[in-house]
Amino acid sequence: MPAAAKAKFKNPRARYNFQGRTCSITGVGSYVPAKILTNADLEKMVETSDEWIISRTGIKERRLAASDEFTSDLATQAALRAMKKAEVTPEQIDLIIVATITPDMPFPSTACLVQRKIGARRAAAFDLEAACSGFIYGLEIAQQFIMSRTYDTVLVIGAEKLSTIVDWQDRNTCVLFGDGAGAAVLQNRANAHGLLTAVMGADGEKADLLFMPGGGSRCPATTESVTSRLHYLRMEGKETFKNAVQAMVTAANEVLRRCEIDITRIKCIVPHQANQRIIDAMGERLGAKPEQLFVNVHKYGNTSAASVAIALDEAVESGRVQRGDLILLVVFGAGLTWGAAVIEW
Ligand code: ACO
Repeated sequence: MPAAAKAKFKNPRARYNFQGRTCSITGVGSYVPAKILTNADLEKMVETSDEWIISRTGIKERRLAASDEFTSDLATQAALRAMKKAEVTPEQIDLIIVATITPDMPFPSTACLVQRKIGARRAAAFDLEAACSGFIYGLEIAQQFIMSRTYDTVLVIGAEKLSTIVDWQDRNTCVLFGDGAGAAVLQNRANAHGLLTAVMGADGEKADLLFMPGGGSRCPATTESVTSRLHYLRMEGKETFKNAVQAMVTAANEVLRRCEIDITRIKCIVPHQANQRIIDAMGERLGAKPEQLFVNVHKYGNTSAASVAIALDEAVESGRVQRGDLILLVVFGAGLTWGAAVIEW
């Protein structure tokens, strides 16, 4: 063969297909900080009432991380619990993905800090930013690496210390959010199912519905940006609500269609925990029975990327799902972003 016709490189994956590969969730874990902030506590901070918060959101309390407890600490605790259940050692982990909008610092990534804390020396590590949808984005990315035989064991974590970006003087938003973390270990396991399929979506046209103006390259920290309270999240509540219901229903229906099943086959729906009314409206439009929905928003509020991961762990721990049951995860967040996944547990 003439030298010029020689292939410039070899693609080691080209000879593989997905045969014989599955992507199983072999362990889940979660962690929430000890400190509880109740609606009664919030009544002392802004003009609000327990009655308003419960009737408009379903939230009764949320957790707050300590001043010396950071997103990487919450993530590490959740990861260690998931690894224990999956019976994997730190050395087995090939990749760590941390979904978060509240990293410890802009860089290095929180995933690298978690890698150090758990001693996963072999693992690659990066952060993923898809707001509240980050955990499902993370599961889908992990699945691609596992099915393509790049990695066998991936740790996906959703972790947030939202209390640091919530404006505690703004009653429109401060009642909604909390801190926490959830994690899953995904592995190639013979004769197992696990993650069947996932969908992800985004609409950047609606980026202004929910955002944080300060702290990035557009508006770096200055004395003025701080006094103007630009380093706190801002949200158009009503529009976000409408888009959340619509996007979650569309994503859920799409993932069910791909699996060729209907909602009656799902044992447990684990939605993003932002607002009880969003969950109820979504459930109704999907034709789900209330008992199919897993809800813990009353305990933690909206923990963004951690939300669905914590809820999945609690659904499993409480016995709501058994081996072989089908679970539907469905999320929505800033971006806008959304996603859904079907798991055979
Ligand atoms: N206490 C008392 N009154 C309040 C409070 C409060 N904490 N917050 C707002 N109000 C007032 C408003 O000022 C308004 O008063 P006005 O009529 O005099 O102007 C009134 O209550 C009603 O406000 P609405 O906006 O109509 O209330 P709504 O029923 O839409 O509920 C809420 C507001 C809870 C924010 C809702 O819109 C919502 O949940 N939206 C979606 C939020 C969400 O899910 N965000 C997360 C997305 S995921 C992510 O990526 C982080």
